[in-house]
Amino acid sequence: MTYQNIIVSTEGNIGLVTLNRPDVLNALNQATMNELVDALEAFDRNDGVRCVVLAGSGRAFAAGADIREMAGATAVEMLSGYRFQQWERIRQVAKPLIAAVHGPALGGGCELSMLCDIIVASETAQFGQPEINLGIMPGAGGTQRLTRAIGKYRAMEMVLTGRPIPARQAEAWGLVTKVVPPEVVLDEAKGMAREIAGKAPVAVRLAKESVLKAFDTHLEGGLDFERKCFYLLFATEDRAEGISAFLEKRKAVFKGR
Ligand code: COA
Repeated sequence: MTYQNIIVSTEGNIGLVTLNRPDVLNALNQATMNELVDALEAFDRNDGVRCVVLAGSGRAFAAGADIREMAGATAVEMLSGYRFQQWERIRQVAKPLIAAVHGPALGGGCELSMLCDIIVASETAQFGQPEINLGIMPGAGGTQRLTRAIGKYRAMEMVLTGRPIPARQAEAWGLVTKVVPPEVVLDEAKGMAREIAGKAPVAVRLAKESVLKAFDTHLEGGLDFERKCFYLLFATEDRAEGISAFLEKRKAVFKGR
């Protein structure tokens, strides 16, 4: 696929995807979502890429769904389109996704950052679910992931008033992993991606899956799932390499096997 709305590149074993519609603050139209899914799935299939960073170009991460595109949509079109399947496909990406957020991450932009596994935010970042101001509500996980991240009362305030919160507040509320100065946000995200990319890929994959399992299962089911993943890792070559490297006081070289 040739991309018109995103920029895709690799640096060593990390993948980079940059939303690239700066004139409309990277509003997420269908074409952009299609390209994003295509790029993320391609990275997921690529053994040379072990972690992916997602960022926005210009002055925003993403200001939400494309309001102009949504303007004429009917309920039936929204229902029958495959709009939300794209979000589901991003949820299925097995490799870790790190959002590097600067400027507004609103509506679908906030939801997209929450679909990532780690959020590195610039001091300039703003997170919000302003859909209520348009007479609608979040539709790509905003009421669910936000509530799980920050709790009912804060999520209610954000979703019902539509008011965004600044990065430091998002950090205090547990919505982001860390906040850094604007000039280093991308480097910080890439640094974290490189660190994760150096770990054993199968362990990373199962650890991600296991943490996510905590959001949709009761504790016993989650612990069961975790243990099965843990056992499974004992069948990998990387487990033998990791333990040998520790005992031999050398750096492990993981192969994803
Ligand atoms: N969809 C489509 N276009 C959008 C957009 C969106 N979600 N968000 C911003 N844009 C466009 C604006 O229409 C404007 O285009 P124009 O120059 O052709 O008029 C351009 O991006 C710049 O936005 P502007 O509003 O002028 O910037 P600002 O700095 O004054 O305000 C925001 C920034 C993010 C506060 C404001 O753009 C905004 O509220 N956007 C909508 C956020 C939203 O409701 N998202 C949820 C959608 S469901």
